[in-house]
Amino acid sequence: MRTPFIAGNWKMNLNHNVAIKFIEDISYKFENKNNIKIAVCPSFTSLRSVILVLEDESAKNANIKIKVGAQNMYFEESGAYTGEVSPEMLKTLGVEYVIIGHSERRELFGEIDESVNKKLKAAFNHDLKPILCVGETLKVREEGNAIDYILMQIRKDLKDISGIEISGLTIAYEPIWAIGTGKNATPQDANEMCKAIRGEISKLYSAEIAENLIIQYGGSVKSSNAKELMAMPDIDGALVGGASIKADDFLAIINY
Ligand code: 13P
Repeated sequence: MRTPFIAGNWKMNLNHNVAIKFIEDISYKFENKNNIKIAVCPSFTSLRSVILVLEDESAKNANIKIKVGAQNMYFEESGAYTGEVSPEMLKTLGVEYVIIGHSERRELFGEIDESVNKKLKAAFNHDLKPILCVGETLKVREEGNAIDYILMQIRKDLKDISGIEISGLTIAYEPIWAIGTGKNATPQDANEMCKAIRGEISKLYSAEIAENLIIQYGGSVKSSNAKELMAMPDIDGALVGGASIKADDFLAIINY
């Protein structure tokens, strides 16, 4: 039985002052009717503030169980890598999750499968739980090659990573054409892809590992479409962008 997992990717939004107010607001209104796993992924500059607020709020109300993730990291331990953040730095802050290979990193910042693979290995080495993002462009989908493309990404990204390591992994299927466009994949199309991903994990690892793997859908998830997406058998959660920085919308998605 897989526990659904909804994570908010705040992207480059909410400076630490705004993030503090926002996470306080979420905490005051927090209800988790579905008893699911929840995480928020602020910018590096807001991580510590959000973690401290959540520590405080959960001490007051034990029902507030919101984990914190980073949006990226570098794979090296330390050294002359100006502008980068190491896995150990995140772990020491109290970060639990880390998004790896988001399409915005791939499209805008030159992230490639080889570096995604190194980052995944580094995350596992430091006991961070990666959320691996995969997704196809509109061109790839229209050419009818979406499934092949995504499965190839999965094989490259998970190269030489063992089944024991990937027990902490979440995969987020985020079709690039659905991100920030207001146009989500249909629940059927999203489920078809999540099912194909699960099938590939079963081939690469085992049926049991595939069965336990959490696969999220991301791309214009809103309170109005969360329920039908989450109802699909192979979709175990959502990676939410725009709607995750509006408290009422994010809470409505959690309580889909
Ligand atoms: P939107 O929900 O804004 O489409 O973004 C999705 C996303 O990229 C989450 O990582």
